[in-house]
Amino acid sequence: MINLFTLHPDFLPMLVIKNISDLKSLIRTQKEAGKTIGFVPTMGALHAGHLSLVEEAGRQTDFVVVSIFVNPTQFNDPSDLEKYPRTLEADAKLLEASPCQAIFAPDIATMYPKPDTRQFNFGELERVMEGRFRPGHFNGVAQVVSKLFDIVEPHKAFFGQKDFQQLVIVKAMVKQLTLPVEIIACPIIREESGLARSSRNERLTAEQRENAALIYKTLCEARNQVPGQSVKTIKNMVVETINANPFLETEYFEIVNDTDLTSVNDWDEPVNKVACVAVFCGEVRLIDNLVLAEKIN
Ligand code: PAJ
Repeated sequence: MINLFTLHPDFLPMLVIKNISDLKSLIRTQKEAGKTIGFVPTMGALHAGHLSLVEEAGRQTDFVVVSIFVNPTQFNDPSDLEKYPRTLEADAKLLEASPCQAIFAPDIATMYPKPDTRQFNFGELERVMEGRFRPGHFNGVAQVVSKLFDIVEPHKAFFGQKDFQQLVIVKAMVKQLTLPVEIIACPIIREESGLARSSRNERLTAEQRENAALIYKTLCEARNQVPGQSVKTIKNMVVETINANPFLETEYFEIVNDTDLTSVNDWDEPVNKVACVAVFCGEVRLIDNLVLAEKIN
């Protein structure tokens, strides 16, 4: 059998790697050849949203690693973890046609040879919105992302604005741990109806999926009403409009400052204002967000 690690760094087929030392030696070879490393962490069940991050990584870096790992420590609901789709073969096929050069697909024992007892402290950032309704979620995200950064040692890592709070927390974690990685934020990819792409959309019936398009439509409507209507009026409008649809139930809707995630009360505040929402469509929990107003200097 040929040893893939001895091939010229420019002529590698896409590799699926399960263990840490193989991945590390592959990355070392690439770095020695002067390549920059781009990294896209995912939990698989890949769709156009994930692929847009991989494409961006391909534009900005020389060697792109995608991780596929359904991280148990970030699921506060065991049935959500159990139902999470696992589709490694299909994912690998999709990535064959992308700039991805290596998939890192470890198993749980590889990532957690012993339980990770680290407790991060992100202050208010982890107590609002997703953090409030999914206790422990961001601690689990920080655990796995910090481990992955430690293994891959990427120059740049790519995250979607779809998980806006996650992006803010990952940036805070990188600062806290002084990690030498640049975090690149990528725009939300949507279905034709406007519904943000998500692995969870596959669990919606056709009728639910059609109705879920109201979430983005309502966020756009909110944006159109800035600054004519007050923050409070717009908040009420969004929740009432979404909840008036029999398929949808809002869990939270917040308009926050994009750096510290504190609530915005006035359109005059000199901050970027992002509307963030979580909505149940049947049993499926969907999140979305939209920048309502940019900072006025
Ligand atoms: P996952 O939900 O698989 O998402 C992986 C990355 O894809 C995240 O950065 C997410 O924001 C991005 N993404 C998902 N849907 C998107 C869309 N419609 N448009 C743009 N980007 C999108 O987020 C996670 O996994 C995990 O928490 C992880 C960071 C991998 C840690 O386990």
